[in-house]
Amino acid sequence: MRIAVIGTGYVGLVTGVVMADLGNDVVCIDNNPDKVAMLRQGKSPIFEPGLEPLLQQTLRNGQLRIAESVAEGLPGAEVVIIAVGTPPKEDGSPDLRYVEEVAREIAAALRDYTVIVNKSTVPVGTGDLVERILVENGVPADRFDVVSNPEFLREGSAVEDTLHPDRIVIGVNRREAAEKLVVLYAPLESSMIITDRASAELIKYAANCFLALKISYINAISRICERCGADVGVVAKGIGADARIGRQFLQAGLGWGGSCLPKDVQGLISIANDLGYDFDLMRSVWQINADQAQHFLDRLQERLGGFSGKAIGILGLAFKPNTDDIRHAISLALIERLLGGGASVAAYDPEAASNVRALYPGVRYTASAPEVAENADAVILVTDWPEFRRIDLSKMAESMRQPILFDGRRFFYRAQAEAAGLEYHTIGS
Ligand code: UGA
Repeated sequence: MRIAVIGTGYVGLVTGVVMADLGNDVVCIDNNPDKVAMLRQGKSPIFEPGLEPLLQQTLRNGQLRIAESVAEGLPGAEVVIIAVGTPPKEDGSPDLRYVEEVAREIAAALRDYTVIVNKSTVPVGTGDLVERILVENGVPADRFDVVSNPEFLREGSAVEDTLHPDRIVIGVNRREAAEKLVVLYAPLESSMIITDRASAELIKYAANCFLALKISYINAISRICERCGADVGVVAKGIGADARIGRQFLQAGLGWGGSCLPKDVQGLISIANDLGYDFDLMRSVWQINADQAQHFLDRLQERLGGFSGKAIGILGLAFKPNTDDIRHAISLALIERLLGGGASVAAYDPEAASNVRALYPGVRYTASAPEVAENADAVILVTDWPEFRRIDLSKMAESMRQPILFDGRRFFYRAQAEAAGLEYHTIGS
């Protein structure tokens, strides 16, 4: 099938590359010339396991092309996928500027019947908006269908998630419009939910907000655990064994970050508000998350008797492992407060350090994980990169001024850390 994907962020690029790998003729379109140049050389602008080799392979075998404008890339496409950003505006509501721009560009380039697919996370009614823009710009209504097809891939496992989705949601106002996507996605052998457009658009927000709610719930439980001597890891295991609750997304920690959960929680609160519903449940979910890392720092501050003059090591800067993404990363809020309190900070991350360096040049970025601990008064583990398992905790303890470990992801075992000579503090126990 001939497919055009507009926008080469996480969703657009991964979708384009995977669709090309499945044998479709794909053109990925981006209006950023630097990105286009990189992509044409087979370089991925984002770090995502498995993506770059697939990009190079599909470019080499001609399944994938890169174009720098909709006018250049769109002609001939049977399916056009919109995967541009919908960043939050100052009031938290999603900014649809890029979706609107792209809709106008599609209108100018559309010649034959085309299925226009919205993969960006957009409020209910955006499919109608795109439809309206096309018609207002002179495209006959029978020359296209607009379909909502939200994406559920996670950063860090985006290629894998795209190849093996739990479900594919297709929202249409005309059932026949779903047919092309059913054929396109058939090789993935995943279950498909074909529904109306409004429900599909809401499914995406409702899913991400539920995930955020689940994490905030277990983080709130962690606070209770700290007060009563219970262990949140065991509590999570105990409740997660109930199939109605499920084990996933019950890992207590410093809270959720990234480009999606924070944006979509804010987005749904604002969408609900516009519809006359005060979603106070999600406001609490947001607040619990904002408090979680600060509470952990309060504990560290109390233990050290203040931050002034103290040396703190940070392990992990990315918002989660296997990515270099630092959008809404918890590490940023921690660094801000530590530097503000007069501490000196050393940090290590296998992928994200250069991104943070641009924001906080005053932090000392080390070449390896153990180096953050040298002469430190405490080390905080912020991101649970698997490679941190290889840290020799005994050596780390010996290299520190005060052997204090604050484990923000419940990554190490208390017994293991204490046996290595570390004073161990963690979340929810
Ligand atoms: C999230 C959703 O999981 C995807 O399904 C969705 O497609 C994506 O947003 C999106 O809208 O594009 P992502 O932002 O990549 O994916 O990251 P998650 O794996 O959901 O993690 C989000 C945050 O929650 C991270 O900071 C992670 O450390 C934290 N987390 C996750 C926990 O604190 N505890 C957990 O149990 C799970």
